[in-house]
Amino acid sequence: MRLDRFLCETTDLTRSLAKKAMHRGEVSVDGEVITNPATQVDERHVVTWHGEPLALVGLRYVMLNKPAGVECSARRGLYPLVRELIDLPHPERLQTVGRLDVDTTGLVLLTDDGQWSHRVTSPKRRCGKVYRVTLAEPLEGQALERAIEGFAEGLLLEGEEKPTRPAELVMRSATEAELTLHEGKYHQVKRMFAAIGNHVTALHRESIGPLALGELAEGDWRELSADEIAAF
Ligand code: URA
Repeated sequence: MRLDRFLCETTDLTRSLAKKAMHRGEVSVDGEVITNPATQVDERHVVTWHGEPLALVGLRYVMLNKPAGVECSARRGLYPLVRELIDLPHPERLQTVGRLDVDTTGLVLLTDDGQWSHRVTSPKRRCGKVYRVTLAEPLEGQALERAIEGFAEGLLLEGEEKPTRPAELVMRSATEAELTLHEGKYHQVKRMFAAIGNHVTALHRESIGPLALGELAEGDWRELSADEIAAF
């Protein structure tokens, strides 16, 4: 890659600041000061800025147990961002793989690998996402049977052109449900229960495909293993 790009990838410098740093003679490759931003370098070269060696950050894959009150968006608004909880270099490069609402807790994946993210979220892959749902009203008897059937067949939610993909509903108690989705429409779980006249009071994502939170405590994160990354 070009030396100016290498500097952008490994420091906080913008492309134009990287070029200026090179022109000032602050950047060396294998001990030699280089001022040409188009010089090609790779991980075999020792690139330094102000004498400090720079290392390329590889692709990262992270799971987080998201607490409530933290936002899965790219820009800071009212709430802190999920990536601010991740103590890795250049956390601003990490994108969430799908989103959870600010009040939803549980499993969030973050990565800077766009292709992997696409593989995980593509509905074609039928990667099941399991949600634990707390309902305002008990769901039992015939209403429950209708809900199981309706969710399995697909619901046409307001403002959507296509019905939801088949989803599996299992009740853990009259007000605690486990819902498995194979897609991720905006506020989907809350809208599905609203469509059958109920209301979600708490929502927690337990797993995405083969990845489950396990022992990861709320607010904690960890990098995925090579096997976990390859599982998608
Ligand atoms: N469905 C919702 O309604 N909210 C979420 O955060 C995730 C799925």
